[in-house]
Amino acid sequence: EKGGFEHYMLKEINEQPEVVRACLRAYSDPPRFRNQLIFDSTTDSLTLTACGTSYHAAEVGKFIIEELTGIPVRLEIASEIRHRPTIIKTAKAIGLSQSGETADVLTSLKRMKEAGIETIALTNVFQSSISRIADDTIYIPAGPEVAVAATKTFVAQIIALIKLALAHQSVDRTMRDQINLELERIPHKIQQILDNRHLIKQATSLVAAADQVFFIAKGVNVPIALEGALKAKEIAYINAEGFCAGELKHGPFALLSPSSTVIAIIAGDENQASITASVREIQARKSKVVCITRENDSTFNDSTDNILRIPSTHRLLSPILNAVVVQLLAYYTAEARGCPIDFPRNLAKSVTVE
Ligand code: M6R
Repeated sequence: EKGGFEHYMLKEINEQPEVVRACLRAYSDPPRFRNQLIFDSTTDSLTLTACGTSYHAAEVGKFIIEELTGIPVRLEIASEIRHRPTIIKTAKAIGLSQSGETADVLTSLKRMKEAGIETIALTNVFQSSISRIADDTIYIPAGPEVAVAATKTFVAQIIALIKLALAHQSVDRTMRDQINLELERIPHKIQQILDNRHLIKQATSLVAAADQVFFIAKGVNVPIALEGALKAKEIAYINAEGFCAGELKHGPFALLSPSSTVIAIIAGDENQASITASVREIQARKSKVVCITRENDSTFNDSTDNILRIPSTHRLLSPILNAVVVQLLAYYTAEARGCPIDFPRNLAKSVTVE
């Protein structure tokens, strides 16, 4: 049932190349996808609402939709909306929920609908509660996800949001072609990461032994820093936090010590110089740093820095590859610490109460 893997989580992480292919097939008909959905000329604003890992997918989506289409995207943590007196109106709202049953997301989407916003569900479960509430539904073809930690559905949600953004008429044609071409290569690149997972496993000794772990990133990868920290907390019971790299010196720096480990996600984009400077400052404070960077990045030195090299891709797609790395980091850390990986304490797969 676990396909020869020790845990559902590892099985589901390993299914990601196939899940990306399934998404690309499902969303390969842009006119139909566009009509069924979202972005027509009347869509001048959008809200994304979700919880937990789905919220991190929404954060990646916001960055990409805003960059590609210029449409402003509001992000709402679903559990916060419930008690807010005012709903800010946007043309459309998407509720992201793997299970389609998360109570806070259902309530959030209901409130948006009552406020006159056209609502869309993005879910992995056919005919789940969220699809009965929303005006329209987009399914992600990820297949059943058993482990409490969401992995393959996170990547599928990101692909769906990228494809939505690309379907908008305002996207620059060359940019669209480049991203579409690079999307086709993503399954193979994920497979390369999976094939080298023993290297990620080796790096986890620095994470498993640390008193505290920080994930830092910039730009479109900031949500992956948050997601890496969520996964480390959720399945490895590690005291982990994610930050925008530039925010470290506005407070969290005070926590750094020789017993902390920082995971730096370096995407080779416009932020390269800035995040490299952050890494050097952290090293100067004697904390350990693990850099997740691209195979051809010459900024870091393989003999003096701890480096995990992964394939290069389009900078807007880099969160997908980095997500797989932080999932594996959390998985092997949890394994090293003897945690019950698939069913962590105090957590349920879907949170159907508020
Ligand atoms: O089913 P949903 O996507 O609505 O679930 C939302 C969160 O409860 C979920 O993503 C949670 O954060 C995961 N267990 C994280 O791995």
